[in-house]
Amino acid sequence: MDFLSPELNAYIESHTREESDILKKLNRETYLKMMMPRMLSGHLQGQVLRMLSMMIKPKNILEIGTFTGYSAICLSDGLQEGGMLHTIDINEEYSEIINRYFKEANVESKIKRYVGNALDIIPTINETFDLVFIDADKDNYSNYFDLVINKVPKGGYIFADNVLWSGKVLESPQDMDIDTKAIVEYCNKIQADERVENVLFPIRDGIMVARKIV
Ligand SMILES: C[S@@+](CC[C@H](N)C(=O)[O-])C[C@H]1O[C@@H](n2cnc3c(N)ncnc32)[C@H](O)[C@@H]1O
Repeated sequence: MDFLSPELNAYIESHTREESDILKKLNRETYLKMMMPRMLSGHLQGQVLRMLSMMIKPKNILEIGTFTGYSAICLSDGLQEGGMLHTIDINEEYSEIINRYFKEANVESKIKRYVGNALDIIPTINETFDLVFIDADKDNYSNYFDLVINKVPKGGYIFADNVLWSGKVLESPQDMDIDTKAIVEYCNKIQADERVENVLFPIRDGIMVARKIV
């Protein structure tokens, strides 16, 4: 997913709000201890998510795919007073690190965690969300969109991460693996859906930003 040179990436990060000490520590610990640490949003994307959340000022956020909690901490900064970020992950093993960092970042009171399959959990959350961040199993992106679209009010946003999938979305369809196909299908679905208007942001591995217009 490194579309830009290391030098340009370094330049961009050096002209972007610094990671807080807590996010730096969480980033480092995730790389030291977790399998697949690259799933973590990281400095630039974390700050992009934070900035977008600050602009949207959501009352409620739904995050699908907590991992070690990095993007949840970033997104929660934009919540309105009294707002809540709901975050779901299927993997219980991340709980210790997530709980420790949510406490250290002082965001415990504005984040509600769910452990389990997001497909089962989303229908049980009786809330509307001004911002949804889809960042879990790629083959369910379209299912997640279908599950959340009626929980997003007009003017609300649905973000989806990794929509460039390291550039694999340009492969010919017969060479695509299941995840790549699912991501292309998701982007085609969003592009065709008249309930939303959308922009594909080429940030890191690509973020599809869809805004509900009806
Ligand atoms: C890319 S990581 C999330 C990264 C995180 N949002 C961040 O930026 O730091 C994807 C996460 O989705 C979780 N996941 C995969 N399938 C899931 C499912 N069906 N329901 C809930 N979580 C799932 C994985 O356990 C993994 O932690």
